[in-house]
Amino acid sequence: MMRFLFIIAILATTRGADHNVFRNCSRIPFCNELRNIILPGDSLFKADLSSWSSSENMLKILLTNKKNDARILELSFLGENKLRIKIAEENSKRYELSDVLLSDPPAIPFNHSKEDSSSLNFYPTSTSPNIRVKITEGPPFRVEIYNENNLLEVVLDGTRFFMDNQKERQTFAFSVGFDDAKRLYGLPSHAVDLELPQTANTSMDPFRLRNSDTAGYEVGSPMALYGSVPVVYGHSSKSTSGIFLHNAAEQWVDISYTGTRPSAYFMVDSGTLDLFVLLGPTLKEVVRQFTDLTGVTNLPQLWTLGYHQCRWSYYTQEQVKEVVALMDTHNFPMDAIWLDIDHTDGKRYFTWNPQNFSDPEEMQRNLSSTNRKLVTISDPHIKVDMNYSVYAGAKEKFFVKWENGSDFEGSCWPGLSSYIDFLNPEARKFYSTWYSYDKYNGSTDVLAGIWNDMNEPSVFDDSLEKTMPFELVHHGNVKHRDIHNIYGFLQTKASYQGLLDRDNGKKRPFVLTRSHFAGSQRYAAVWTGDNTADWPYLRVSYSECLLLNLVGIAFCGSDVGGFANSPDVELLQRWYQAGVWLTFYREHAEETTKMREPYLFDKEVQDVIRRALRLRYKHIPVFYTLFHEHTISGDPINRPLFYDYPGMVDINDHILLGPNILARPVLEQGVNAITVHFPGDNSTIWYRMDQQQTSTVHYGGSSEKLDVNISISPFFYKGGSIVARKDIERPSTTDMLDDPYTLYVNLNNNKRAVGTLYIDDFSSFNYSINNRYNYIRFTYDHSNGEVHTETIGGDPKGFDVHVDKIILSEPAVSGSQIYRKEIFVKETEHRGEVKVFKLK
Ligand SMILES: *[C@@H]1O[C@H](CO)[C@@H](O)[C@H](O)[C@H]1NC(C)=O
Ligand SMILES: *[C@@H]1O[C@H](CO)[C@@H](O)[C@H](O)[C@H]1NC(C)=O
Ligand SMILES: *[C@@H]1O[C@H](CO)[C@@H](O)[C@H](O)[C@H]1NC(C)=O
Ligand SMILES: *[C@@H]1O[C@H](CO)[C@@H](O)[C@H](O)[C@H]1NC(C)=O
Ligand SMILES: *[C@@H]1O[C@H](CO)[C@@H](O)[C@H](O)[C@H]1NC(C)=O
Ligand SMILES: *[C@@H]1O[C@H](CO)[C@@H](O)[C@H](O)[C@H]1NC(C)=O
Ligand SMILES: *[C@@H]1O[C@H](CO)[C@@H](O)[C@H](O)[C@H]1NC(C)=O
Ligand SMILES: *[C@@H]1O[C@H](CO)[C@@H](O)[C@H](O)[C@H]1NC(C)=O
Ligand SMILES: *[C@@H]1O[C@H](CO)[C@@H](O)[C@H](O)[C@H]1NC(C)=O
Ligand SMILES: *[C@@H]1O[C@H](CO)[C@@H](O)[C@H](O)[C@H]1NC(C)=O
Repeated sequence: MMRFLFIIAILATTRGADHNVFRNCSRIPFCNELRNIILPGDSLFKADLSSWSSSENMLKILLTNKKNDARILELSFLGENKLRIKIAEENSKRYELSDVLLSDPPAIPFNHSKEDSSSLNFYPTSTSPNIRVKITEGPPFRVEIYNENNLLEVVLDGTRFFMDNQKERQTFAFSVGFDDAKRLYGLPSHAVDLELPQTANTSMDPFRLRNSDTAGYEVGSPMALYGSVPVVYGHSSKSTSGIFLHNAAEQWVDISYTGTRPSAYFMVDSGTLDLFVLLGPTLKEVVRQFTDLTGVTNLPQLWTLGYHQCRWSYYTQEQVKEVVALMDTHNFPMDAIWLDIDHTDGKRYFTWNPQNFSDPEEMQRNLSSTNRKLVTISDPHIKVDMNYSVYAGAKEKFFVKWENGSDFEGSCWPGLSSYIDFLNPEARKFYSTWYSYDKYNGSTDVLAGIWNDMNEPSVFDDSLEKTMPFELVHHGNVKHRDIHNIYGFLQTKASYQGLLDRDNGKKRPFVLTRSHFAGSQRYAAVWTGDNTADWPYLRVSYSECLLLNLVGIAFCGSDVGGFANSPDVELLQRWYQAGVWLTFYREHAEETTKMREPYLFDKEVQDVIRRALRLRYKHIPVFYTLFHEHTISGDPINRPLFYDYPGMVDINDHILLGPNILARPVLEQGVNAITVHFPGDNSTIWYRMDQQQTSTVHYGGSSEKLDVNISISPFFYKGGSIVARKDIERPSTTDMLDDPYTLYVNLNNNKRAVGTLYIDDFSSFNYSINNRYNYIRFTYDHSNGEVHTETIGGDPKGFDVHVDKIILSEPAVSGSQIYRKEIFVKETEHRGEVKVFKLK
């Protein structure tokens, strides 16, 4: 199986990233050295079991080897089936990350027992009595985790544990084995299928995590992309467990399914070995455990879930006006238009090109009159120019510096630039203030979102793999090497705060970022960067976003149509159809590509794109409700099938939008049929929804071939669900605010159906401050044909729900057809707390 995956990955390799610029493992000394290292006996560590001690619920055990090296293993149980393992040193100079975790999770009490003369067991006293950590003396020592007598993970295995402690080198390596797993997932972001392929002992490089502006990135490659989330989950249909390496330095990870157990071997450039272990035992719980540590995606404003029109670049305010007008005259809904780098005065962010955008405020008023928003770009490189007030204000105070104290200057869009030191809280504060209305001249509240691009950070220097030198120095004398992978994360933190402050904390900020790390979900949505207009990129955009959803980054999309090159109309239409189901939906294109706004195509193509956009808008209440539910549970909004159906692995082209909507868009070129795998068992019903007349019922456990043509992109509702939509077609989400809901009631075998809907003011924080929201459960009562609504969270006052229509689906009495009827709500009645829609 794994061999098969590996071959697919190789075949799918596409366009060229420059392999002379972006180095392979053999050209990175620590990777080359550590990848196949065989440790001599005298450097293997043993755990001195008699040395163990505990303070503030942290267990400490001395590790020593025959070379008289000493380390300290620190282990804390964190509750909720999580633990933390650190390797400490005397007089350590290693950097410890401090910005990523939501908070430092408290350790809980533990107890111990002796297993035999060479091992000790530790287990939490109060909770999770089944979890036990067994530490074996060695050499080499081992740290194993058991659930009762079932070995889940070998978290540290002394045979592959290496830690440099020379002054100029802080590299380390360790291996984690997942005994209970069949598949490994994780290490976003890479343009590969969800299941991580074997890399160890193959001609493939290890997966690299080093945020990087990888122009022309390749599908199927382990090369580093824009973001790094050092997480690996081991999954089988029985259980899931995971690890999170809390470290933002460059790292390479070899994946193996051969040998004793599936394993991930981490080789890390610098910083601390600080590992969180997430013990599930289900994938849902592992994801929850990870979001407990790093946070969930914030509830966005409603408009951000609409369609975004972007291009590098819309060059003038007249062009902005024209694009919006043409979208309107051609009846394409949209919520926002985006301005790339050229709208500025010489790539000075927070300014406008005086010729081409002479009246940005009027442009924004005009946008506002059609209920549209504006998003502008703001990159972290700041043009070296004393007449540019952002530069002048930051010079010698807030930029990343050389070791000798001079500001670093590198080349980027504006020419010579310096880079804000976002590790410095004062620099973040300084940067944040530029978003305020009085400093960002010409900005109004119609400029409702910000786009942080090039924030890996990108520096136009091939000899440095297109980023800044690792020896540069940040606030607190921290080397860039130690925090490279959180540079963009910290920029989004400052941007988020800037937008929050600008609106006095009254509006939910919207930031889109290219660079990302664990925890980025707290500040920004993520897109898959500069992809290419080709079929493998469409397909891989699903795996990339599904994986990010499994690590809390639930707001994700890809450039519709592909960034580089021009898509043919088939690919463009398929991309619009597939994009409907991802949380972030934006068309974007590179400067040299043909214009591709939807109104530029033939009528038939326009019709397909318009249907896709409208389908998206009809489902916006579903997305919004799922965002709310994500903030409560950590559940992904876009889910691979194995999230809800643990056995359904190796399927990268299906997507679940929440638990109730299954989509299998066409991600392949020139096909007349596709195969759909229906999850669940034969009591699970899936109603086909993309066809009106000849709609069919499908049952879980089956795989079926469905005919498709260019206008068909299959999706299904699950039996037993109620899906609340807004079906009236309007130009934007704002225009839909007062529209009634249509409830799609999809009966299960017992003729039951339930569903949820979340509503609030769609923009402010009143939902959390004043409980100003209404979270509703709909229940269909077959005995009398009524739909009951009750508030299960928040407060219904001021958030009344109007339902005008019910679309009821159930299997026809015989055959595979759906019996579907449309019922207008005749009467609405209040019975105490419950509101009843009477259908008969
Ligand atoms: C690594 O990259 C160099 C330069 O592009 C190339 O010559 C070499 O063959 C590559 N090594 C491997 C193992 O791919
Ligand atoms: C710790 O374990 C010992 C021996 O197994 C037992 O006697 C003791 O009650 C345990 N303590 C707690 C707090 O559970
Ligand atoms: C690589 O292959 C060698 C030799 O077959 C084997 O001993 C080793 O376990 C393999 N390594 C991994 C990580 O699979
Ligand atoms: C201003 O707009 C004109 C006309 O579209 C374009 O040719 C020019 O490049 C623009 N200038 C900048 C700085 O983008
Ligand atoms: C705003 O709209 C008015 C009316 O259509 C138009 O005359 C004006 O040029 C527009 N201004 C901008 C900056 O787009
Ligand atoms: C900066 O502004 C001054 C005063 O307006 C002007 O004389 C000078 O040429 C400007 N310098 C640059 C580099 O644009
Ligand atoms: C905005 O205008 C003010 C007053 O002219 C100026 O001081 C400030 O530098 C401008 N902001 C930017 C980003 O140029
Ligand atoms: C500091 O170091 C950088 C990089 O080596 C060099 O370009 C710069 O001139 C130095 N600055 C001073 C003041 O020496
Ligand atoms: C696609 O197939 C559907 C259902 O068979 C049919 O109604 C529609 O006309 C077809 N569309 C095209 C573009 O062939
Ligand atoms: C939020 O609540 C405050 C206080 O109740 C109210 O003044 C404000 O209008 C509300 N904001 C929105 C967007 O509803």
